[in-house]
Amino acid sequence: MQNLRYVGKNLFIEKLSIKNILKKQKTPFYIYSENQIITNFLKFKNTFKKTNPLICFAAKSNSNLNILRVLGKLGAGADVVSGGELLKALKAGIKAKKIVFSGVGKTEEELKIAINKNILLINCETESEAKLVNNLAKKLRKKVSIGFRLNPNVDAKTHKNISTGKAENKFGLSIKSFKIFLKTINSLKNIKLDALSVHIGSQILNDAPFIKTLSVMSNLIKELRLNLNYVDLGGGFGINYTNKERPINLNKYSKLVEYFSKKLNCKIIFEPGRSIIGNTGLLVSKVQFIKKGANKNFIILDAGMNDFMRPALYDAFHQIIPVSKNSAKSKGKIEFVGPICESTCKFGIYKNYQKINENDFIAITNVGAYGSSLSSNYNTRPLIAEILINKNKLRYIRKKQNLLKLISS
Ligand code: LLP
Repeated sequence: MQNLRYVGKNLFIEKLSIKNILKKQKTPFYIYSENQIITNFLKFKNTFKKTNPLICFAAKSNSNLNILRVLGKLGAGADVVSGGELLKALKAGIKAKKIVFSGVGKTEEELKIAINKNILLINCETESEAKLVNNLAKKLRKKVSIGFRLNPNVDAKTHKNISTGKAENKFGLSIKSFKIFLKTINSLKNIKLDALSVHIGSQILNDAPFIKTLSVMSNLIKELRLNLNYVDLGGGFGINYTNKERPINLNKYSKLVEYFSKKLNCKIIFEPGRSIIGNTGLLVSKVQFIKKGANKNFIILDAGMNDFMRPALYDAFHQIIPVSKNSAKSKGKIEFVGPICESTCKFGIYKNYQKINENDFIAITNVGAYGSSLSSNYNTRPLIAEILINKNKLRYIRKKQNLLKLISS
């Protein structure tokens, strides 16, 4: 993140030193750079400027109300996957006509909210869902725009747990089933097929799977002579968690999308999450204790896997950096671990790390996406505070959860 740097020995986010913030704020906490969020959004927008897509931020990547507000003000819509996310997006000031509702198992209650709020699209994933939307819309005397999420059977070449576009994945309807369904769709008078959507996976660092998906969609739309208002191409654009990864280059893809959109005369929707918010956040944590192990030292942090799940869930690498640098070295290997009673509650092994002492502070990097939003109360630990920085201004965008409330049920 450009808004993260050392000034002398101390880590700064925008114009504030974390060391100073720590004088008032107890760890662990999430901290984000508002200007990095803005930069990322505008960069994404600029990449596709000739297509002028509707950019629906994937709220599941970070559903903090104030972050949704920041993005909403920039003109973002929202891709939501639950009634809760839908209501949050609206509360953040995002217009209903900029909200798309994705997900394989939406409930009747959630669908009713979506229909009543007149959102842009409900992206259905099964025939039964489309029929349910039709019945609910009939009762509510409405005609509802739907999209159909297809499974293009494209390998996104990403971690198997975040790949969603292959036939073996539960997501989207197969093209074969979609074609069968299409024969009967005209009997469903209270829905209108306005869009097709796809989302092939997340943390994709190569443009090839996106290009392949575009060609599957293009061929299908031509073959079926569909007249659509929108094509929703999903999210999935990867970011660099290590210096070894090459950033994804979307120049070729953006030209193809522009051509596709013109030729089919439809508006493009994207649903990026990680590429907008991933590199904007840090998780700041304190070294509670240091324990000597057989062949490494355990650096026991006060942040646990309940606060940040990605390493435990996907073996994800997130670089850990000191809040204050020193020039001494730790001896041998060290492993950063959390306090949770699970062996997967660990954050990375390092060699030649700087000297670490108890009560030092560190920051886990690139945790803006699927960090706070995936956190939980496991081990009856309260959700932690979230802070948003803009230049030298600090705003609390979530207070640490109240422990007494947490133990009330
Ligand atoms: N649209 C749909 C329908 C999705 O399911 C997702 C993410 C997105 C958009 C946004 O994808 P993005 O641009 O953020 O890659 N928890 C995992 C990632 C799960 C992604 C789920 N779907 C992780 O931490 O890597």
